Amino acid sequence: MTIHRKLSSALLLAAAIGLACPAFAQDDAKLQASAKLYDTYCAQCHGVNRNGKGVNTIGLSVQPRDHSDTAGMSTLPATQMFTAIKGGGAAVNKSALMPAWGSVLTDDEINDMVDYLRHVCKCGAAK
Ligand code: HEC
Repeated sequence: MTIHRKLSSALLLAAAIGLACPAFAQDDAKLQASAKLYDTYCAQCHGVNRNGKGVNTIGLSVQPRDHSDTAGMSTLPATQMFTAIKGGGAAVNKSALMPAWGSVLTDDEINDMVDYLRHVCKCGAAK
């Protein structure tokens, strides 16, 4: 019973925040959608903690980028991230061990992913 009541007040609160601040709620929904895609497609290499230490990195001759590294990620322009995700590492003269996602993710999803990565590395708004 109490759990139900807590749950519904949490939902009401979430709805109220969403109504009071629609732009924020929309950004938040995009970040969550990207986080889900990341967990599905990227985490096995880039790690569930986004630190480049995924379960699938043993034996990779080039280690995946640490997406939580603020200094390292700040130097990556958003356009390069977009190209790397869409066309794979080879598209930006990096390792082809970074796969191309252009046939899996739409351009909108890739753009949202770039925003998400800049959120993960705490690099600030997209450049
Ligand atoms: C099979 C392992 C693997 C998977 C899966 C993978 N990556 Fe990577 N990724 C890599 C490797 C390895 C690099 C490092 C390439 C280099 O530095 O030469 C990399 C680098 C990157 C970079 C940096 C590119 C640059 O210019 O330095 C970005 C951004 C990136 N990955 C995003 C993603 C996203 C988003 C996904 C999921 C949609 C993903 N990766 C899935 C292996 C992977």
